[in-house]
Amino acid sequence: MSRPLLEVANLRVAYGAGWRRVEAVRGVSFEIARGRCLGVVGESGSGKSTLARAILALEDRVSGRIEFAGQDVLALDRAAKRAFRRRAQMVFQDPLGSLNPRVQAGAALAEVLRVHGLAGTRAEAARQTADWLETVGLDPAYAGRFPHELSGGQRQRVNLARALCVGAEFLVADGPVSSLDVSVQAQILNLLKSLQETRGITWMLIGHDLAVMRHMADEVLVMKAGEVVERGPAADVLARPLQAYTRELLDAAPDVARALDRRAAAAASLELNRGPVPEQDVPA
Ligand SMILES: Nc1ncnc2c1ncn2[C@@H]1O[C@H](COP(=O)(O)OP(=O)(O)OP(=O)(O)O)[C@@H](O)[C@H]1O
Ligand SMILES: [Mg+2]
Repeated sequence: MSRPLLEVANLRVAYGAGWRRVEAVRGVSFEIARGRCLGVVGESGSGKSTLARAILALEDRVSGRIEFAGQDVLALDRAAKRAFRRRAQMVFQDPLGSLNPRVQAGAALAEVLRVHGLAGTRAEAARQTADWLETVGLDPAYAGRFPHELSGGQRQRVNLARALCVGAEFLVADGPVSSLDVSVQAQILNLLKSLQETRGITWMLIGHDLAVMRHMADEVLVMKAGEVVERGPAADVLARPLQAYTRELLDAAPDVARALDRRAAAAASLELNRGPVPEQDVPA
């Protein structure tokens, strides 16, 4: 069997010092196999986002071990870190904030492609940009739109294209859909699922919605106060939680799952999205 893409062992992350010291992540271990989706759930403040940032080498006070594709993430030099940041990225945290308001969607993608030396000429950049927009289910005509001329769901598609176009293999989505309307949530989640299936993208999906996790995740990690309290195949953990804490999370969960039906899956599929963008997904 091949080794997991990501292996995390006894990870600890601290903030502050002295009496203000907070250990936000306290000895977390897990692995994610290539092409799988790990769901991370837990109450607010349980350390999910801190864990995500630590894995992506965005936190300083980290101890333990993080191994990505056989590389020791905590020991990367600058050049290696830059390469790592192309392969492992955060998406969706703030889809509007992470796009430059003055740059059209297509130009933003073309810029990233050129900076990374992936497109030699303007024409080549334009061609690749159109391809990537299609990959995320956007009509290439959207290349000319500024961020404020896109809906939330469309902006997330552009963000996703930007991560994928430089070679992302591992994506961390921290609350990717919490600000979207339920029908658009389902479209975006189904797009993530299809990218996992067709491109072998490996995901860490962070969220509060356990119905979404049941639909999306292969494995689930349940966090409480910086520690993992339960972990296992999503179907098992969510159907037969061993911990009272997990049962409480389940009881408190809203139900977006119903919207994740076949129709939504079809709307997110590339075939149907090549034409005009579905009605629910246009800006207000
Ligand atoms: N920059 C920081 N400085 C100090 N403490 C922090 C910082 N960021 C997070 N914390 C603390 O670390 C703990 C974990 O926070 P984190 O943001 O990882 O939680 P979370 O599980 O992502 O919560 P949510 O579901 O609300 O997003 C919390 O107690 C939080 O107050
Ligand atoms: Mg968070």
